[in-house]
Amino acid sequence: MPNEKDPLIVCENLVKIYQVADLEVVALQGLDLIVRRGEMVGIVGASGSGKTTLMNILGGLDRPSAGRVTVDGLNLLALAESARSEYQQTKVGFVWQQTSRNLIPYLTAQENIELPMTMAWLSSARQKRAWSAELLQAVGLYERRRHHLTQLSGGEQQRVAIAVALANKPVLLLGDEPTGEVDSATAQTILDTFRRLGEQMDLTIVIVTHDPRLSGQVDRVVAIRDGKISTETIRQVNQPGQGQSHPPAGHPADTAAPELKKEAATYHEYVVLDSAGRLQVPRELLENLGIGKRAQLETGEGCIIIRPADGPATAGAGNRLTLEEQLALLFQDQTPPPPPRRRGLLGALRRRDRR
Ligand SMILES: Nc1ncnc2c1ncn2[C@@H]1O[C@H](COP(=O)(O)OP(=O)(O)O)[C@@H](O)[C@H]1O
Ligand SMILES: [Mg+2]
Repeated sequence: MPNEKDPLIVCENLVKIYQVADLEVVALQGLDLIVRRGEMVGIVGASGSGKTTLMNILGGLDRPSAGRVTVDGLNLLALAESARSEYQQTKVGFVWQQTSRNLIPYLTAQENIELPMTMAWLSSARQKRAWSAELLQAVGLYERRRHHLTQLSGGEQQRVAIAVALANKPVLLLGDEPTGEVDSATAQTILDTFRRLGEQMDLTIVIVTHDPRLSGQVDRVVAIRDGKISTETIRQVNQPGQGQSHPPAGHPADTAAPELKKEAATYHEYVVLDSAGRLQVPRELLENLGIGKRAQLETGEGCIIIRPADGPATAGAGNRLTLEEQLALLFQDQTPPPPPRRRGLLGALRRRDRR
């Protein structure tokens, strides 16, 4: 029996470098991430920050250039080809942004769900039918089971795609911008379906989305900047009688599903330190304080103070950002991706790993 506390996903110092002609693009640069079993984690970040690269690695579709990635005790770097394809089929379900990538248009909803069923316990047509019916009910589309995909809306197709991803009862469900092509009300339904099924089926979920209401739906929002985790916003459900009972006004969760609104929660944003102790200070905070390439570090009472290099901090408390402003920035992080580098880094990493 897996231990509740034992994490499902462990990424350590994950590096991914793509080689294009004689250039190297560093898509992940030493990313660390731990996801607990049963947790639902949202990933946000500017375009090109490395979100899809991370999802492809977690889904076993791509290998990192260096680092470590373990999912459900399996070291994904060490898996042989056959074990990797078994991992893709049985341990992980994937929902993509483009419905066309998830589904076959000339099949019905039910046929699409039954197609990937390869598990031994689904050997007969009757068993497959029963399980696909259950999944269709779970995503609220049982009545539409005989409809071809062209007869379903974009949001309905994505719900079928979720059922397809769950056909083999994976432990991990990944969504790479599954709400990217639908309107915001439909996106809400899709996120809600993810969350509800995650709870019902004991899934661990990692979902990339630009939808700012995400943070009201997930346990933790992780922001990627330049191929590294920069900040995390953790949602903590308050104990009865505990203070703050609403998300800040205008906060993404303010418009979240009604059942979540009822649950009193507090949001904490943290900057994340990597295994070498490096952290990314949000660019806006640095700009606010006029901190450039160098800063002074001091220890205060129970804290570390970062000041501009040239003298004491000039910006006082009046310049500090509220939680609401920080969250707004988290969702608007438009940091451009790092420029491609000349060849050489990948070779150096391989030499380091061989040593
Ligand atoms: N197959 C590839 N070949 C070369 N570069 C790639 C490839 N896939 C992604 N990249 C580059 O890696 C970086 C991260 O991309 P990606 O993971 O797709 O980011 P996101 O999903 O956050 O938009 C970008 O600079 C992108 O151009
Ligand atoms: Mg992407």
